[in-house]
Amino acid sequence: MLSLVFLCAQKVISDHASITWSLKYIPKELYPVLFKACVLHKKVLLLQQLTETWPFPVLCFRKLLLSDKHCSQALLKEKPNRMCVQAVIMGIKTYLAHVLFKEGSKQQLRILDMTGMHEDGLEHDPFTMSLWSRTVSLAKACIDIAKVYSKDEVQRMRYKEAHAPYGSVYVEVWVDLFVNSTSFAVLREALSVSTQCPLRLMCRDLRAEELSLRSTLDLLEFLSPAGVRQIDLRFNNLGLSGLNVLLPHMTKFTILQSLKLPYSNIDVRRLSPTMEEGLQNFACQLGQLCALKELNLGSSRLSGRLRQLLGGLQKPLESLELAFCYLLPVDLYYLSQSVHISCLKKVDLSGHNLSQGLLQPFQQLLTEISDCLLHLDIMECKLTDTHLSSLLPSLCRCSHLRYLGLFGNPISSQGLRTLLQNCLLLLPELQLVVYPFPVDCYSDNSWPTLDNYFDQEKLEQIGTEVQQMLIIAGRTDVVWTTDVHAHSSGLSESVVLAV
Ligand SMILES: *[C@@H]1O[C@H](CO)[C@@H](O)[C@H](O)[C@H]1NC(C)=O
Ligand SMILES: *[C@@H]1O[C@H](CO)[C@@H](O)[C@H](O)[C@H]1NC(C)=O
Repeated sequence: MLSLVFLCAQKVISDHASITWSLKYIPKELYPVLFKACVLHKKVLLLQQLTETWPFPVLCFRKLLLSDKHCSQALLKEKPNRMCVQAVIMGIKTYLAHVLFKEGSKQQLRILDMTGMHEDGLEHDPFTMSLWSRTVSLAKACIDIAKVYSKDEVQRMRYKEAHAPYGSVYVEVWVDLFVNSTSFAVLREALSVSTQCPLRLMCRDLRAEELSLRSTLDLLEFLSPAGVRQIDLRFNNLGLSGLNVLLPHMTKFTILQSLKLPYSNIDVRRLSPTMEEGLQNFACQLGQLCALKELNLGSSRLSGRLRQLLGGLQKPLESLELAFCYLLPVDLYYLSQSVHISCLKKVDLSGHNLSQGLLQPFQQLLTEISDCLLHLDIMECKLTDTHLSSLLPSLCRCSHLRYLGLFGNPISSQGLRTLLQNCLLLLPELQLVVYPFPVDCYSDNSWPTLDNYFDQEKLEQIGTEVQQMLIIAGRTDVVWTTDVHAHSSGLSESVVLAV
């Protein structure tokens, strides 16, 4: 749906020459709608001009690209176009040059907010721009600007005479950052000049992959404490000792709500007395993060230690991801009696054998958290039809559940039908279910082995049947799929942190 205003905006931006000429006569109230129309139709030159002359203190992608009364399309949910992002970055550079060096230009824009743009972690075609490339582009822009202004002493003097003190003119650029060892050097340089530079990088969510302890520490030191909301360090193989070095540097981030440390290689087996102390220290440090709501310790060995690790947290967690953590019944029993049950919206226990000893404690946990739970991942948990039917009563109590991840469990197509019927009746808020390839698609009705024949046609038949059941139930709003990546397309993300 497009409003009359949006239709007019589309007409206006289609004639580049006249809009360029008349931009200064356009009422500023029309800037937001023109901006969205330019992104929609990839009018990059005009987008750059709009940024250069932005008449408000804040330019925020999340607000401008939402579905709104003028245009129902939510551009924020689409992969960002490379040219458009670059046009805005160019625009901001020119904008700064104007306010710094052109007499009579006043600064309106203070904050460019590029957080919350679509990111599924996948590399895309050359026309879209991943979070990784956006991070590099912004870092380079920041370094460029810093160079220009530090070199240009003469200009600087001139500027000083004419305006307020140098340093009071700057734009904060709010971004989510994703860095790995390839881009570390450029981001580090950008962050180190950023505090003195008219373009100031402000990080909201930081993701770092495969970085050494030293590099990670460097980054944390350069990040401005205000505003860091999430730190996600993956594949860094830090171990307990590395994490214990890093965590004290995180307490300065007073609004840090989310800490993700998957593949950190914590291993509680056979701890020496020193390592035992290290584990206790790690737990204490976690307790110092006073805004923490979300924790991911996936793929570490935590058997029997959950009480020790989570017991010191100041506030109940809303999201706990513990995939492949070798948890024991005692861990799940602890959890189901802990303070966290009152708030847990998201739980990931994938990769635990729920088929025997853990089934009962898991059932108990599920019952305890059923009031709040929105997102449940139990992929690769060795669940068969029998286990699933014993779980159904507690599962169906989770009446707010939006996402259910069941991929990689040995369930049959009959088990799937039963699940679907129950879910459709009892889970009105469900949006996405990732189900496994049913076991009866394999030639010997068992779990895949190398020489096991897989019946693709049967899988497709089952898929069609699922779709028909959804149509009959009037629930085509729910996605049932075997695609594990459906998960990262935004449907089930961010149950704890706002976009
Ligand atoms: C870092 O990430 C980028 C983008 O995903 C990729 O092209 C590059 O190869 C990565 N570097 C390393 C060392 O993995
Ligand atoms: C799951 O765990 C039980 C013991 O609790 C074991 O008997 C069973 O073999 C395991 N299942 C698989 C598929 O590993």
